[in-house]
Amino acid sequence: MTVRHVLEIDDLRAEELDEVLRRAAEPPGGDRPLAGRTVGLYFEKPSLRTRHSSEVAVVQLGGHPVTFRREEVGSGEREPVADIARVLSGYHAVLGARVFDHRLLEELAAAATVPVVNLLSDRGHPCQALADLLTMRQHLGELEGATVAWVGDFNNVARSLALGATMMGMKVRLACPPGYGPTDEDLDRLAALGAPPVVTTRPTEAVAGAAAVHTDVWASMGQEDEAEERARAFEGFQVDDRVMNAAAPGAVFMHCLPAHRGEEVTASVVDGPRSVVIAQAHNRLHSMRGLLSWLVEEAQR
Ligand code: CP
Ligand code: NVA
Repeated sequence: MTVRHVLEIDDLRAEELDEVLRRAAEPPGGDRPLAGRTVGLYFEKPSLRTRHSSEVAVVQLGGHPVTFRREEVGSGEREPVADIARVLSGYHAVLGARVFDHRLLEELAAAATVPVVNLLSDRGHPCQALADLLTMRQHLGELEGATVAWVGDFNNVARSLALGATMMGMKVRLACPPGYGPTDEDLDRLAALGAPPVVTTRPTEAVAGAAAVHTDVWASMGQEDEAEERARAFEGFQVDDRVMNAAAPGAVFMHCLPAHRGEEVTASVVDGPRSVVIAQAHNRLHSMRGLLSWLVEEAQR
């Protein structure tokens, strides 16, 4: 039997993604598929939402989370990553990991005999994309055919969102500065899943008619050294009221958080009436519960 890992959102088939989102929309307090079981949560980077939402989701499913930091285990130094994966597979029903280098997740997944979930890597943030899709479904209604715009860096969050939105039949528009947009490999991967995205360097062009406008920080965790250079490259890419006014009437503003007010977004937008960022953050819990419940059931098939 093949173990299902979720290193990127397109590790799920479209109908499986839909099922995870259906489960995410169910209130907690139902089945407890993790009763008497544990989930190991490994972090190499800071986290507020991902750690808390994952731990609470495990508890809501009847299980117990065990969260630990890289320095506690010395992955690759104190012992090989493959040994860590094999050992932890004997303790936990699922493993989650937030890593600097996506290849570490691949190493974990190659050796683990339980599902491995990407809790954010340099390449993707599929758990965030689940919450983003759930939030858009709640605010936009039907996702299929709706337009979602991304303004800024085509980073881990953008990549997973674009993949997930394309899988759900959404129209994806990306406004990125030259050199910070999707690669040819990204575009091929997106085209294999549905309609290819519109890519532009003009934020107002990307958001025209969009029902949801997303952005994220200009320098992600691990890119702190590039912050100044990126601030220059992203001039003109701030989501402000002018950009939001160019979107569809009633469009929502979304951000995975943490947000840098005055950089990628103005306070008037992120704290304004069109912002759904707190509901989006709360949906990290519900979408994680949906994902874990589906993964645990899948592992028992
Ligand atoms: N959005 C998100 O992943 O937040 P944290 O980094 O706080 O987990
Ligand atoms: N792109 C950001 C997301 C944080 C949740 C980062 O990787 O730091």
